[in-house]
Amino acid sequence: MKKLTALLMGTAMVLSLAACGGSASSAASSEAASSEAASSEETSEAAAEETTDEAAGEVTTVNAGKLTMSTNAAFPPYEMTTDSGDFEGIDIEVAGAIAEKLGLELQVDDMDFDAALLAAQSGKSDMVMAGVTVTDERQKVMDFSDTYAEGIQSIIVPEDSDIASADDLAGKIIGTQRGTTGYIYCTDDFGEDSVVAYDDGLTAVQALNNGQVDAVVIDNAPAKEFVAANPGLKILDAAYAQEDYAIGVAKGNTELLNAINGALEELQADGTLQSIVDKYIKAE
Ligand code: ARG
Repeated sequence: MKKLTALLMGTAMVLSLAACGGSASSAASSEAASSEAASSEETSEAAAEETTDEAAGEVTTVNAGKLTMSTNAAFPPYEMTTDSGDFEGIDIEVAGAIAEKLGLELQVDDMDFDAALLAAQSGKSDMVMAGVTVTDERQKVMDFSDTYAEGIQSIIVPEDSDIASADDLAGKIIGTQRGTTGYIYCTDDFGEDSVVAYDDGLTAVQALNNGQVDAVVIDNAPAKEFVAANPGLKILDAAYAQEDYAIGVAKGNTELLNAINGALEELQADGTLQSIVDKYIKAE
């Protein structure tokens, strides 16, 4: 258990992410100003565009009429792409339901995970929704919604591995996704030289398959999907860390945060949230 505590404290180590907070709100507010101007001056255009307008106009967004979500759609079942290139997953559907409640159209911007965090921090997107774990360090540079899911950092190893617990990771090479809590915890616990950062979870798992790393530390839900698709791997029973997922917005964007929390609360109360989760995560 010592490790778990160490992990959580380790989040303090992070973060190249911190740097860019400042420019955010200015970009957001200038856009906001122009979209407000648009709706008062060009009334007919605005009316034509905003057919679903119950809440639209109440919340200022990066692109008028849209809720722009930055994400990394390589994280099943939270966000992934279908064969035909559409986005799907728990976060995509919950975000769609939030957008609908706010009278906005959801726009999904797919990018690397660390970029998705930065986009929300700097006001390039309205929000990052990407199975994002709430950490103290991240809370310094962005604001988080209420929690909508729990996450667990799991350890994936080859079936015949001698690694049986987090302690056994000492002296091993660990694969992670860049910018994630898995990376942060592992570098903190085992040192940077022991951890390899890959673009996404699947690439880390492929490296495990090829023997380039001894284990992969990643969130449990994608871990299950990757292991199901890659025979010869297993997930250790013992969790590495417990986490909460939330939606991140630019620091100080209280208007949007309140709107998101209001929508989330309704989606929770009427069972929508649970039914979306159940659709993607089958009870065991
Ligand atoms: N929960 C972890 C974190 O916040 C990993 C999230 C990765 N998400 C993704 N869409 N790739 O660091």
